[in-house]
Amino acid sequence: MKVLVVGSGGREHALCWKIRCSNRVKDLYAVPGNAGISKIAKCIDIKIGSPNYFADLANLVKKEHIDLIIVGPEAPLVEGISDYFANQGLRIFGPNKRAARLEGSKAFAKHFMKKYGIPTADFCTFTNFGDAVEYIKKKGVPIVIKASGLAAGKGVSVCFSLEEAIDSLRRIMVSQVFGRAGQRVVIEEYLEGDEVSILAFVDGETFIPMVSSTDHKRIFDQDKGPNTGGMGAYSPTPVVTREIERRIEEEILYPTVKGLLDEGERYVGVLYLGLMITRDGPKVLEYNIRFGDPETQVILPRLRTDLVEIIEACLSGSLNRLEIKWDEGATVCVVVASGGYPGKYENGKEILGLEEVGSMENVFVFHAGTVQRNGKIVTSGGRVLGVTSSARTMDEAVKKVYTAVDKIHFDSMYYRKDIGYKALKIGG
Ligand code: AMP
Ligand code: GLY
Repeated sequence: MKVLVVGSGGREHALCWKIRCSNRVKDLYAVPGNAGISKIAKCIDIKIGSPNYFADLANLVKKEHIDLIIVGPEAPLVEGISDYFANQGLRIFGPNKRAARLEGSKAFAKHFMKKYGIPTADFCTFTNFGDAVEYIKKKGVPIVIKASGLAAGKGVSVCFSLEEAIDSLRRIMVSQVFGRAGQRVVIEEYLEGDEVSILAFVDGETFIPMVSSTDHKRIFDQDKGPNTGGMGAYSPTPVVTREIERRIEEEILYPTVKGLLDEGERYVGVLYLGLMITRDGPKVLEYNIRFGDPETQVILPRLRTDLVEIIEACLSGSLNRLEIKWDEGATVCVVVASGGYPGKYENGKEILGLEEVGSMENVFVFHAGTVQRNGKIVTSGGRVLGVTSSARTMDEAVKKVYTAVDKIHFDSMYYRKDIGYKALKIGG
């Protein structure tokens, strides 16, 4: 069969790599892809978000007789790409526009959780700045302020002083730094605990959780500095014990999928739970409606079962007949970024050492911001590479990943030195 992956980051490179391992797949396409993806898939340059990109993608799919489309990022799903393709009889993996509101509108997600008794932080939503300020003054700090709409992971402020909280509100609601995404804000209770990501395959009725993982959102070591798209990840997460796993399934995954059905939505795709494991148990920080980035880079190397077989089972509603197998070991992914990211940075730096690292056993180099220029691979984004290693233990995986990263060089490259250390501390 022929498969198309939509997106251009490390997550999409990992997806393409895993799809290439499937003996069901003959041809693989990516839109727009990157330099790493182009080694294993045919990259087609259609700009995600351009005025007619749904139609351009559909034309490509029809012309090339592509059998299955897999969507990486959230924006096309929130904009309704699944409905558009399904209406034309094309097979696409990812939830429809109504179900995608779980990520597209934090206000929707919070009201949904409240209605179905799914554990999450207490909250209120506001469209009026004055009312929101009054509420913050009443509740006090710490408090968490979120733009309701999509804000590329930057719309959340955890505030420890009243000034900071009012300032965040003003930026979102008055200065409108996130545009329409900030017309409504969610203000919620601050939760303490350990953060984990649990992703699950969902076929509308049945769900199968993937192995646990944790990402590192802040730019600097010891979780300091501003938030980024993710500086690294590891899997598994030691705090997710069997008991916590059971509670996540019973208290969160089951009522979410059932609640969606009660609302008339068959959710087909990957459901991502951003969770805080608190003293009272797991609570939802956010839903995402897709694979996580960089979580996918640590999850897929542990997956033993054919990913395309799983996706087809989701699409045909037969996940209950499938057993998904995972490696017992550990994986760690270190994101190598351009100096200056998440602020200003320069592109076009030649990347050296890729071949040497590529030949290391159980090391994967997933490209994110790279392009090929005059036969060389150069940087073209803030997050450049996701270097992942897998090993029997977390300790070995951490050592190996940093040995690999040490072999890579480009001008002003930056990476965190403490990815996975949290798991070592908790685990042993
Ligand atoms: P979100 O995009 O909603 O996952 O929020 C981004 C980050 O903000 C999360 O990864 C957490 O580190 C933090 N965060 C979000 N909500 C809360 C909360 N209620 N309490 C504490 N931290 C939070
Ligand atoms: N790792 C966070 C995300 O994918 O949204």
